[in-house]
Amino acid sequence: MSKGKILLVGFGPGSAEHMTFRAREAIEESDVVIGYSTYIKLVKDLLVGKKVIRKGMTEETDRAVEAYEHAKQGLTVALISSGDIGVYGMAGPSYEVLFQAGWKPGDDIEVEVVPGSTALSSCAALVGSPLTHDFCSISLSDLLTPWPTIARRLNAVAAADFVIALYNPKSGRRRQQIVEAQRIFLKYRSPDTPVAIVKSAYRKAERIELTTLETMAEYDIGMLTTVLIGNSSTFIKEGLMVTPRGYANKYEGITGNVKEGEQRGRSLSLGLDGWKAGIKQAVEAGEDIEKLASNFDLSIEEIFLASNIENVYSDVAKGLERLKLVITEFGLMKTGQIQMPINPQDIEISPSQISLKKDLITAQIDVDTISNIWFLDQSVWLLNIDGKAMMSFHK
Ligand SMILES: C[S@@+](CC[C@H](N)C(=O)[O-])C[C@H]1O[C@@H](n2cnc3c(N)ncnc32)[C@H](O)[C@@H]1O
Repeated sequence: MSKGKILLVGFGPGSAEHMTFRAREAIEESDVVIGYSTYIKLVKDLLVGKKVIRKGMTEETDRAVEAYEHAKQGLTVALISSGDIGVYGMAGPSYEVLFQAGWKPGDDIEVEVVPGSTALSSCAALVGSPLTHDFCSISLSDLLTPWPTIARRLNAVAAADFVIALYNPKSGRRRQQIVEAQRIFLKYRSPDTPVAIVKSAYRKAERIELTTLETMAEYDIGMLTTVLIGNSSTFIKEGLMVTPRGYANKYEGITGNVKEGEQRGRSLSLGLDGWKAGIKQAVEAGEDIEKLASNFDLSIEEIFLASNIENVYSDVAKGLERLKLVITEFGLMKTGQIQMPINPQDIEISPSQISLKKDLITAQIDVDTISNIWFLDQSVWLLNIDGKAMMSFHK
């Protein structure tokens, strides 16, 4: 019996011209084509003489099982998905089904993943160039992902100023997720942030709308829509949404001369090396470390690491020993918003806890929660596992 083959094919946004050569060829060389019924309709011209298996939306693992069963009989099976089959598509579930059945690469069934243009690049192409800088995608579907996970990711990318593509933004039953996403983004971004709402890109029902973060949820958004939210420098001009590449950081305008202090073909003056050198200088000059961290929106630990000052104890037990030796010299303790003068007798350091008793205030820190201890000339910092300051002592 001839070897079976499973072709996991992403056929692009939906129009014939945006399907890759290999995707078309892969469907043509298959004996069996399996897919969601809407996808089957989109490639119907390529299906003459083939066994076609149409599946519903929720029958994803069935599609993978069916592909495996046919491939075991020596057939070539194309499992098709819109966009890129590896992006919120069938490639992952297919491998999971195959591994569960004991399949491994090199076995009798060959597996090939055929990439395609995913919705975010198709939609971006229709509205201009919104993805020219760092971007990411988040699916708002909570059918398989818990909402707290989605919300945590939305918060993280909104705060980090990524351009974002929202997949699966809304369906008949999931109507509030897009409203929640908008609320989270508005905590970090201006209401004027450009937003593109692209429905059925490169298909008959294609619709493109440009709007803002403030009003995006009022638009007609559905199962076939991708929502692109710009970053803080994205703009809309002449009906096009564009995210600058960053040339303005180095050049006077997009085609102008190199700015003072910058060099063509070299990292920016605020690139990794330049930034580290600047931080080292600032820390050595005694600049306020918390202020530096807040200016760059980074943790205190990142500032210490950048400063390349080596007095760090990530072996906390050793750090505590040293702290005991030097604590007599320190006069001011800070924790969060609280600052107070301390005497050596106010503080007790044991292997498991640091306790502070002063007047009516008692504070205790579990040593387990300390990730490292930094000693600078004028201060000692206890950092927690997120690299934030738990407590610091200052001369
Ligand atoms: C299950 S995901 C599949 C993504 C697909 N594998 C891809 O790479 O584009 C379905 C979501 O993709 C987006 N999508 C797929 N095709 C689209 C199109 N032609 N226009 C706009 N969005 C599309 C929508 O957000 C939709 O809810």
